[in-house]
Amino acid sequence: MKLRRDPELFLVAEDRGRVVGTAMGAWDGRRGWIYHLGVRPGYRRMEVGTGLVREVEARMRRKGVRKVNALIFPSNGPSIGFFSKNGYSVSEMVEAQKYLDDGDGGEEGKGHQPSGARGRPRGRAPPT
Ligand SMILES: CC(C)(COP(=O)(O)OP(=O)(O)OC[C@H]1O[C@@H](n2cnc3c(N)ncnc32)[C@H](O)[C@@H]1OP(=O)(O)O)[C@@H](O)C(=O)NCCC(=O)NCCS
Repeated sequence: MKLRRDPELFLVAEDRGRVVGTAMGAWDGRRGWIYHLGVRPGYRRMEVGTGLVREVEARMRRKGVRKVNALIFPSNGPSIGFFSKNGYSVSEMVEAQKYLDDGDGGEEGKGHQPSGARGRPRGRAPPT
């Protein structure tokens, strides 16, 4: 599904054919978002993450995106350090979420279960 939406904002960093990092960006028409960013242990603190974020930002700029947000768990100190170093101001925001499917994964879930729904009882209301 992600490869059909903003595929140019879904980046993979490789070292001799080995995936060592990924960044998943998106543009909702108002803001750019970096939803996921990950660098393989053993390749961290080598600017792989910085390279991925800079490339996502450059691609967003070319699409006309003027502001980019990143989603970070408050407990993720390394990520907060990383985004701060890369010029992001970190604020305290509260996330609200709600599942819109009935537990079968809906359209997105055809053939697989979305990661956000993993471990959730099927066909029952999600825990609040
Ligand atoms: C956060 C993450 C993506 C950083 O990737 P990285 O390739 O190691 O980052 P870089 O080498 O480009 O780091 C650039 C700067 O960010 C900051 N930084 C990176 N890792 C940090 C850490 N663990 N603690 C504090 N600051 C950190 C530093 O200022 C660093 O510069 P320096 O190495 O010169 O001190 C990586 O640690 C990771 O994959 N973590 C697990 C997944 C995750 O939490 N993803 C983010 C949430 S979506």
